Amino acid sequence: MRTPVVAGNWKMNTTLAEASALARAIAAGVSGVNGVTTIVCPPAVSLLPVSMALNESSVFIGAQDLSAHPRGAHTGELSADMLAGLCTYVIVGHSERRSMYGEDDATTAAKAGAALAAGLRPIVCVGESLGVRDSGEAESFVASQVKGSLAEMPDLSGVLIAYEPVWAIGTGRAASPEIAQEMASAIRNALASLYSSDTADAVPILYGGSVNVDNAASYAASPDVDGALVGGASLDGHAFSHIVEAFAASG
Ligand code: PGA
Repeated sequence: MRTPVVAGNWKMNTTLAEASALARAIAAGVSGVNGVTTIVCPPAVSLLPVSMALNESSVFIGAQDLSAHPRGAHTGELSADMLAGLCTYVIVGHSERRSMYGEDDATTAAKAGAALAAGLRPIVCVGESLGVRDSGEAESFVASQVKGSLAEMPDLSGVLIAYEPVWAIGTGRAASPEIAQEMASAIRNALASLYSSDTADAVPILYGGSVNVDNAASYAASPDVDGALVGGASLDGHAFSHIVEAFAASG
């Protein structure tokens, strides 16, 4: 049985003070909620204050990105080893990294590999554009992203996958629970053929894209959707805690 996972991606939002306050609100909101793994992914500069704010809580911390390189002349970048002291998870291959910063499946695979090597758990994001969906190629496109973004990683223990259709991110146009289920199941089939059915059964697959308080329960009820990667709604402590509760109830 896979434990549900709800991760909040704060993106480039929150000052240091706001990040600590939001972390405290989430810790209070989810205290007493069991059977779900809750993760917050603040901006990198807030990882330390957020970890202090979450000191007494069961909420995990993730970074939003990392460098694929171990160290050296990479101005502005953060390595897996630096992050490993501050968090447990790290998002890789988010569609905003892919579309705005030129990252592709190979970059994503390199980052996921660097994360795993440092003991971090990568949340590997995949998802098709509207054009790909309209052309009827969504399943094969995403299966190929999964293959490329995992690039012969020998072992998937520690890896999570987030299916985030580009057209649903930040648009208020969430994928229907049917599409989320269909795509999560297609990703699981891809994992089964790349690895084994035991591996495919073990990997948590999250849905992301305009998840909110009103639609969370419908994704939680989908058998292959094991959680959510939440953007906008994760900036509201109350809303995020209710989304966590919706998945806890499904577990
Ligand atoms: P959204 O973002 O919930 O605001 O659509 C999701 C994401 O980008 O992870």
